Amino acid sequence: APSKLLIKGGTVVNAHHQQLADVYVEDGIIVAVEPSITQVGDDVKVIDATGKYVMPGGIDPHTHLDMSFMSSGTIDDFFSGHAAALAGGTTMHIDFVIPVDGSLTAGYEAYERKAKKACMDYGFHMAITKWNDDVSREMEIMVKEKGINSFKFFMAYKGALMVNDELLLEGFKRCKSLGALAMVHAENGDAVDEGQKRMIELGITGPEGHALSRPAVLEGEATARAIRLANFVNTPLYVVHVMSIDAMEEIAKARKSGQRVIGEPVVSGLVLDESWLWHPDFKTAASYVMSPPIRSKGHDKELQAALATGVLQLVGTDHCAFNSTQKALGIDDFRKIPNGVNGIEERMHLVWDTMVESGQISVTDYVRVTSTECARIFNIYPRKGAILPGSDADIIILNPNSSFEISTKSHHSRLDTNVYDGKKGKGKVEVTISRGRVVWENNELKVTPGTGRYIPMQPYSYVFDGLDKKDATYLSSLKAPVKRAKSSS
Ligand code: URP
Ligand code: ZN
Ligand code: ZN
Ligand code: ZN
Repeated sequence: APSKLLIKGGTVVNAHHQQLADVYVEDGIIVAVEPSITQVGDDVKVIDATGKYVMPGGIDPHTHLDMSFMSSGTIDDFFSGHAAALAGGTTMHIDFVIPVDGSLTAGYEAYERKAKKACMDYGFHMAITKWNDDVSREMEIMVKEKGINSFKFFMAYKGALMVNDELLLEGFKRCKSLGALAMVHAENGDAVDEGQKRMIELGITGPEGHALSRPAVLEGEATARAIRLANFVNTPLYVVHVMSIDAMEEIAKARKSGQRVIGEPVVSGLVLDESWLWHPDFKTAASYVMSPPIRSKGHDKELQAALATGVLQLVGTDHCAFNSTQKALGIDDFRKIPNGVNGIEERMHLVWDTMVESGQISVTDYVRVTSTECARIFNIYPRKGAILPGSDADIIILNPNSSFEISTKSHHSRLDTNVYDGKKGKGKVEVTISRGRVVWENNELKVTPGTGRYIPMQPYSYVFDGLDKKDATYLSSLKAPVKRAKSSS
């Protein structure tokens, strides 16, 4: 296969600018982006993009491939998950490394092995689930030697991954000192536990009990708490899977006051509502169980509006695939249904249809929320997230006049369900290019295990800029200690 590619006649879209231009690629790197590139040898593959958009491949900031969770393991691994992603126009993702027996190094090495079959580029976040001096030391190793610049703290999943406020504070301080971004799963885990007991006592054991047991107020509370603690420490905060108006409004308020808070809606929260959890068929209803839960109708539209106005910044999926046999672990008790929904393959199409086709955001903003913003936040821009000379050739060609249709029968995930089954819309990713290789064309995948590369991410991304000034202002605002006489009479 030629390692030279020329994409002709398309509209090249970056987050900051769009123009009619050709794109020339050599050995996986974009070499030129200019109108009318003509000098081409016969060893160059030419792709006609007339009438289509040529955009940076999607970057999914939030996935769980090959993860052990809730007595199960997610069934999409670093090959099937990547194949699905590429078929849907996503060319990179950032997955969450889970420590092994509290060891970050062991967790990292386990994920390094899992990712050997990668067929697209990937990066890692890491979860922090315990606190001690070893964890603190290992965080430094992860940041300085392993290319991890973000750590996730789970405020829910009591008895498993959940952390308390003390750990949250220690973790936030450590993130700050390392220049790493703190991320939170924001739900009040103690209250969720209480809510679950309440539902079981009431005899509500089905998937609807999942939504009823952990209402939006618990997401709002934890989001507000995490934001205030991050403010107290003066470190940036990234709130993953923002599912409710309650959480979104806390983020809006903090951002308005100038705090560095990033909010990540996920596709399920933007396009679905909780009514599926009341579906009479357990298999269907259970497929929609994720945490925080998909909310009642109305939250979806408000989250879309928040994304359109910049209150929320980038879209993830939280792709966390459990088959119906695994979901059936909770047939008698919703608490045992493994949490998670699909989305890695559907994100680019659903965001296009929901946000661009509907007129809520521009095509340049589409590139920003699906790719560029993620690259900037995690410090890999403009190597990723841009169509610029020198960038990696992760490129998609989207035909706005074609259409997509999502179906469990034709998707590339290993799942036997799909929460978006039957959804159709305008706009189709017709070509996906992963570091210069055409991996998706004419509805066909050409992927090889082991071709994906690890993308290390350096600390101190732009979200930290200027925070040292705020620290200095804070310190100088403190009054000198009051001098008091040693003895009292
Ligand atoms: O239900 C979910 N979200 N499963 C994945 C783990 C997490 O909380 O992100
Ligand atoms: Zn320009
Ligand atoms: Zn989570
Ligand atoms: Zn997740």
